[in-house]
Amino acid sequence: MKIYIETYGCQMNINDTEVVASILCKVGHTICKSIEEADVILVNTCSVRDNAEQRVLGRLDVFALQKKKNKNLIVGVLGCMAQRLKEDLLNNKNVDFTVGPDSYRELPEIIASRLESGYKKTETILSLKETYSDIEPVRMDSNHVSAFISITRGCNNMCSYCIVPFTRGRERSRDPKSIVREAEYLFAKGYKEVTLLGQNVDSYFWANPDNPTESVNFFQLLELVALIDPTLRVRFQTSHPKDIRKGVLYTMAMYPNICKHIHLPVQSGSNAQLEKMNRKYTREDYLKKIADIREIIPNCAISTDIIAGFCDETEEDHKETLSLMEEVKFDSAFMFQYSERPNTLAARKYSDNVPLEEKTKRLNEIIALQNKLSLESNQKDIGKIFEVLIEGTSKRSDKQLIGRNTNNKMCVFDAADGVKVGDYVFVKINNCTSATLIGDIQEVKKTHHLHIKSISEIKNDIKELKRKRDEWLKKRESEGKH
Ligand code: 5AD
Ligand code: SF4
Repeated sequence: MKIYIETYGCQMNINDTEVVASILCKVGHTICKSIEEADVILVNTCSVRDNAEQRVLGRLDVFALQKKKNKNLIVGVLGCMAQRLKEDLLNNKNVDFTVGPDSYRELPEIIASRLESGYKKTETILSLKETYSDIEPVRMDSNHVSAFISITRGCNNMCSYCIVPFTRGRERSRDPKSIVREAEYLFAKGYKEVTLLGQNVDSYFWANPDNPTESVNFFQLLELVALIDPTLRVRFQTSHPKDIRKGVLYTMAMYPNICKHIHLPVQSGSNAQLEKMNRKYTREDYLKKIADIREIIPNCAISTDIIAGFCDETEEDHKETLSLMEEVKFDSAFMFQYSERPNTLAARKYSDNVPLEEKTKRLNEIIALQNKLSLESNQKDIGKIFEVLIEGTSKRSDKQLIGRNTNNKMCVFDAADGVKVGDYVFVKINNCTSATLIGDIQEVKKTHHLHIKSISEIKNDIKELKRKRDEWLKKRESEGKH
């Protein structure tokens, strides 16, 4: 059968769609590119904010119209909305089945049984074990340069505004051997960058079930992936301010191929709000983590997520968010208005009482400030030379190429002879906007250069950092922490 898949939401969902494609292609189905040619339409959904759900509900109406043209068409909803809304979608939206994030292995059977019996079905049992470790995702719409690898599933944090723990279940860490195997396989196929994904990568922890004294934590995993090859770039997200440790920072500093960028969602600058959000850190704790990052990795970019207008947020609280942004000088940010999600802690305990106009006003102030900070951050890069991994051509002109530097900043530069997607080049920055660095290729390198530093300098740095990391680890172990 021809399967059409549409994906909404975060990178974890994009990666899940690749897992789904792999499961379906293995049993002989093929992936197609339009709803007109499809026998089955799957939509992988997101429930994090109400507007994400509304977009999908709108799409389901379009698919229902397509069903009128093609009587045999099957429509299935996957992901967080399937988990949350289940029968609602079957009964009211002309959907044939709903399958939650931990039940994708059932898809071939569900599609077959829908064909045979015509029954509508919902499969949404959340698992304590499912990690899809043994499934090699089909990289869809990929640039064949960078790929995502899931290292954990689910989340145990219970931030009071967030629906993820309810739709994606308890946190599970994937076997490090299968993660490294997947990264090695991608590298052998020509990929140059992998991003390790988890709702909270810092709580990655895998203990060998046959020998529990054998374990791997996040920085050890990061090191295992970085050691695959110095020309394989490694990124990761998302870090959690309460859990990110110096071990991760030393490991990042040690390996030039671990990109110098940390996405560290702060959500709010006010302690009262952070407590209500159940984030388990204070403004001061957050700023201390930022100081650690700046000390150990001086050239590290930091991005964040911010929510405007959470329950009971006062103008004072909002001002504290603005002042924290000024203090940290984030390089970039994702910014949202609070959207109450059914059954979350906040929906049950607090009132969504900041008026919509006020939420919008505060969000606009946050966005305006971040635009200024992003521009200032980019202006500081004018005159610098960065190593950039070419990811594609610019949307505006095919004579221009795009790629990111180690700091996750998008660079745009003129194409040159002998340079292609997947190459590393050095780009000198001579202009910028708040969103991009604009520059020229300086010197074309066929092979990846470790760093602008010399190899002997790097070796010295690593020795010193490793000593510091071991010292830090010993101290933690003596305190009984892993
Ligand atoms: N309302 C608004 N933003 C939210 N996020 C998560 N839940 C909500 C919500 N209910 C944001 C947080 C999180 C990001 C992925 O989405 O900032 O870090
Ligand atoms: Fe949601 Fe908090 Fe988990 Fe992130 S850490 S997925 S915001 S509960």
